[in-house]
Amino acid sequence: MGSGMDLSTTYMGIRLEHPVMPGAGPMADDLDLVKRLEDAGAPAIVMRSLFEEQLEEEQLAAHQAFDARSPTAEASSFLPVPHELALGPEEYLEQLARIVRTVDVPVFASLNGTAPGAWLEYGFLMQQAGAAGIELNVHQLSTDPDETAERLEHRIAYMTSALAQSVSIPVAVKLSPFFTSLPHFARRLDEAGAKGLVLFNRFYQPDIDVEALDVEPSLHLSHPSELLLRLRWLAILTGRFGGSLAASGGVHDAIGALKAVMCGARVTQVVSAVLRGGPTKITELRDGLARWLEDHEYESLAQAHGSMTLEKCPDPSAFERGNYIRIIGSWGR
Ligand SMILES: Cc1cc2nc3c(=O)[nH]c(=O)nc-3n(C[C@H](O)[C@H](O)[C@H](O)COP(=O)(O)O)c2cc1C
Repeated sequence: MGSGMDLSTTYMGIRLEHPVMPGAGPMADDLDLVKRLEDAGAPAIVMRSLFEEQLEEEQLAAHQAFDARSPTAEASSFLPVPHELALGPEEYLEQLARIVRTVDVPVFASLNGTAPGAWLEYGFLMQQAGAAGIELNVHQLSTDPDETAERLEHRIAYMTSALAQSVSIPVAVKLSPFFTSLPHFARRLDEAGAKGLVLFNRFYQPDIDVEALDVEPSLHLSHPSELLLRLRWLAILTGRFGGSLAASGGVHDAIGALKAVMCGARVTQVVSAVLRGGPTKITELRDGLARWLEDHEYESLAQAHGSMTLEKCPDPSAFERGNYIRIIGSWGR
């Protein structure tokens, strides 16, 4: 590593050399890239998500011949079809097993869905293929006025519990930031068996083409300013959620990673910065973190961990309502 600084961390009971890991994304589709990430010091690998819709499609395909006029065929045009996604279910499990054989670091798999169902059984297959843990990405958006927040939260907690009970490896839930009482919901996920929370899903916001009267899906890489939302919730949830917290979104440099750790993150997941800068971005962030801690005479990363949480920071109101009133009042003074 070129530095004697102890950067080790424990994420969902798994010891990692340091907290800067690549997050879920396309990087792990390519075995060479995975090797380069490991060579660059990645302490763990996370695969992209396998989607509920892919698994439902696979099951549908196995059970019925597609009729072009059937309502199912029409509905399926709204779903990501397998060929649009890089890895189908079987390929996914094969790729997972291949990565596990190739690297020495833990490999996390990811399942993405919105409702309990047979697709969650893939968690067990991921475990069998050698996954060290699973991220359950519950990226969903309620458009139904009849669906209450309670029902939506219940569904996510139920999925978490179903997955956690079917595997012996740790399960992390990757959430969106849009919950009315996140601390309460985090506790519920804790009780449902989640060993980690990944904060947060990025919310891909479609744009509108006013000429074509069409909706344009847009995928932009993240901006460092997106980290602030994560810092606030990391700081609030540390000490209130029993498991490990991971930061995902807006970590682009070593100071960003340090901030997330100080707010209580056990790991920081990096995707946009790696897609832009390549695998050595991991090395750069890791070494930058070590250098900062050395320069500031810390003995280890553990000493910095959680030093700026709501419970520990010198001015807890900074994360709460009091600060909002102060900031608004200070404008233009
Ligand atoms: C091209 C691309 C593909 C992604 N695929 C997934 C995915 O399959 N599953 C998932 O949970 N997150 C996925 N993400 C989200 C990232 O894991 C991460 O949460 C998000 O990009 C924010 O982190 P960043 O600021 O470091 O990019 C993807 C992001 C990008 C840019």
